Amino acid sequence: MMKGCIMKIPAMIAFALISAACARDALSPPAPGWNTLSGAAPMIIAHRGASGYRPEHTLEAYALAIEQGADVIEPDLVVTKDGVLIARHDRYLSTTTNVADRPEFASRKRIDPDPNGQGREDWWAEDFTLAELKTLRARQSVPGRSQAYDDLYEIPTLEDILALIEIKAAETGRRIGVYPETKSPGYFERIGLSFDAPLLAALDGFGAGPVFIQSFEPRILKRLHGRTPHKLVQLVYEENPGAGSNIPLANIATYADGVGPNKDMLIDIGLKDTGFLRQAHSLGLFVHSWTFRNDVDNSIVQYFRDTYDIVGDEDLQFDDPTKPEAEYQLFYLLGVDGVFTDFPDTAVKVRDAMDR
Ligand code: G3P
Ligand code: CA
Repeated sequence: MMKGCIMKIPAMIAFALISAACARDALSPPAPGWNTLSGAAPMIIAHRGASGYRPEHTLEAYALAIEQGADVIEPDLVVTKDGVLIARHDRYLSTTTNVADRPEFASRKRIDPDPNGQGREDWWAEDFTLAELKTLRARQSVPGRSQAYDDLYEIPTLEDILALIEIKAAETGRRIGVYPETKSPGYFERIGLSFDAPLLAALDGFGAGPVFIQSFEPRILKRLHGRTPHKLVQLVYEENPGAGSNIPLANIATYADGVGPNKDMLIDIGLKDTGFLRQAHSLGLFVHSWTFRNDVDNSIVQYFRDTYDIVGDEDLQFDDPTKPEAEYQLFYLLGVDGVFTDFPDTAVKVRDAMDR
């Protein structure tokens, strides 16, 4: 791997990969080795479970991710009317459950009660008790993915998820972590449904693997800083990452352990290393990037498909630009510390094949 110059590849791809190699030389223990902050292999984080294969945020999606070799399970969390943390990416329920088919809940449909929301009309998690939500069943929300598992699985609580991970860790003898994201914590706090106490209480005593608490909203992370032994991760996002980063990484480093950027913030549309990862590492922040998918054309894979026509370069194990493996390889070479992926099996396969 990466034994010398990259030959026979288009200039921009070569630039990106050479940048990755140079970044490794500048930042990390000497090769062979990973260019991550710690020098350990990048972590595979199952994004909403193995959500490419099962309805997202179900115990079945999480269990499959563990079978596929994921190191960490990512539940997005929202809060029920009775204050229980459940796994949903959104406060609204129509896209990932069968709530619209339940006549007894028809009258609950309403305009987003969050005045800062988008005015969407839907069913909202905070209007339902846990007992009511447990009667719903999960559905695949991404077009093109299998609907064979629709209407079978329950919405899990954080407690359900932690119990599953503990069981799977014991069965497999592996360390398996959890990576809860607090969704809209400011809004939930304003309506009296704070994450803080139930989140810390649920995580207290979890011993199956590492715990990372993530949020896009800095306030909850700053509040938790110093109150929990768990790693804190500031999620960041830029609409136009190619325009340069305005993310206050030095400030983030005062209260968080890591940063979770959109992957386009690390390598932009021109396959140019933006320097974000090196800057974060220089501040002691690990970088867990999102979201890696086999079936969605994203900027980088699309760019590969348009321009990347190498054939069998000896330095690249995954040299087919039409395959998602090439994207993982690129980010692993750059030195990303972890990837959020809907397809953990692919992420694991590439990591295992890269002999560092
Ligand atoms: O939490 C990392 C990543 O999942 C952020 O994106 O919208 O899928 O939660 P989202
Ligand atoms: Ca998330």
